[in-house]
Amino acid sequence: MGPPGVGKGTQATILKSHLKVPHLSTGEILRKEIALNSDIGKVSKEYIDNGLFVPDNILIEIIENYLKSSVCQDGYILDGYPRNVQQVKDLHLLLSRLNQSIDVAISLTAEKKELIKRLIKRSKDSGRSDDAIEIISKRQDVYWKHIEIISKRQDVYWNQTAPIIKYYRENKILKEVNGLGTIEDITKRIIKVIK
Ligand code: AP5
Ligand code: MG
Repeated sequence: MGPPGVGKGTQATILKSHLKVPHLSTGEILRKEIALNSDIGKVSKEYIDNGLFVPDNILIEIIENYLKSSVCQDGYILDGYPRNVQQVKDLHLLLSRLNQSIDVAISLTAEKKELIKRLIKRSKDSGRSDDAIEIISKRQDVYWKHIEIISKRQDVYWNQTAPIIKYYRENKILKEVNGLGTIEDITKRIIKVIK
């Protein structure tokens, strides 16, 4: 867990080879659906492009399909799910039904200024519609619209996702990890808390 740009995807990609489990990024899954122009993709695009969350019922359906699949039976890393109170409840019910449980919830932290800086930097080559701002000099209106969406995603995180961290803290499975520093140092910190 952690705000946009904190390094969830970067770290999960490294950890999946270390832990030998699949990495499920709901953002990546939704972007693939958009690229395929599927029904889920068509609905999701509108929300993602505006920095808003895609409806919970779509997410739980995606997660259920993954968690039931054979590749997930020895564990998995969830990146970007759950992200609000309803999703915590949905996941909780699903896990009890599947007789699975979460071992650890990792909350990566960093200050907003650094996050915005990383997302602006990434926007130059990510191809992601929710942080693309490559046309800076030509279209100031487009530039500000994208800055607004990068910023909006941060606000949505603080309003909807940050409050669910306490649920995992109360369940004593929360580990907070400083997301500032080199990518390698952060990986070492995460591996240490997992151990
Ligand atoms: P999602 O794809 O999850 O995006 P996000 O939360 O906005 O987070 P990012 O992927 O932008 O950041 P990250 O933390 O993964 O950082 P990264 O490793 O890339 O979700 C996108 C959208 O999909 C949502 O807005 C929503 O619409 C929808 N969605 C997804 N899940 C949903 C759900 N559960 N419910 C409803 N809707 C959902 O790193 C960022 C950049 O920083 C990279 O360029 C990286 O190279 C760089 N970087 C990483 N670590 C470091 C470091 N230590 N130092 C310097 N740079 C670094
Ligand atoms: Mg990501």
